[in-house]
Amino acid sequence: MKKIILSSILCATLIYASEANATKATETSTPSATAKEAIGYIKMLGKTLKGQLKQHLQADKSGVEAMNFCASKADELTKEVNAKLPKGAKVRRTSLLTRNEANKADETDLKVMEQFKKAIEAGKTPKKPVVVETKTETRVYKALITQAACIKCHGSDINPKIKEVINAKYPNDKATGFKEGSLRGVIVAEVAK
Ligand code: HEC
Repeated sequence: MKKIILSSILCATLIYASEANATKATETSTPSATAKEAIGYIKMLGKTLKGQLKQHLQADKSGVEAMNFCASKADELTKEVNAKLPKGAKVRRTSLLTRNEANKADETDLKVMEQFKKAIEAGKTPKKPVVVETKTETRVYKALITQAACIKCHGSDINPKIKEVINAKYPNDKATGFKEGSLRGVIVAEVAK
């Protein structure tokens, strides 16, 4: 296990050290106070969205009701969580393959996610958060691994009623065809310096 973590740290650090602005990414077991704060924000958003999703999936096992809920309320819930954070802090979700274009990744997001994806493809599950220090902020990334519950709306064999909502609301949806265990996306928290 130690070996795995170490090699990930090396990979991540190498990529970022070669950049002009020398952004550094590290997988960490001993996060700084700011990184800990950011991890708290990730948990806030994760718990809120997942808790709601679970309730709606239990109420209607087909997932149709949950789909309608996600499509209409995910943005609002994310805003509500952000409204509780101190000034300069932000938490959001993104993906290499987005459903909601409002969740589009930036350059740093893409690099961290490629790193997570490579780790998963190599048979490692990225459990530890990755911390990225830029000149202006501390960012912390948590990988979201596709679980059985995600397949209903992000897998290959999607209920036509769910597909209908996706087509209507997200004409540029890229977030289907995911298999269990693959990287679905990340939650990222940012704290301004
Ligand atoms: C009931 C349908 C449904 C299920 C089940 C579901 N999602 Fe989604 N997901 C959506 C919809 C709709 C969006 C776009 C709206 C939003 O959340 O911003 C989305 C967006 C996302 C995003 C934001 C990035 C993007 O593509 O826009 C992530 C990350 C994500 N889902 C991960 C997951 C994970 C992980 C699971 C399983 C734990 C999961 N989803 C289960 C419907 C679903």
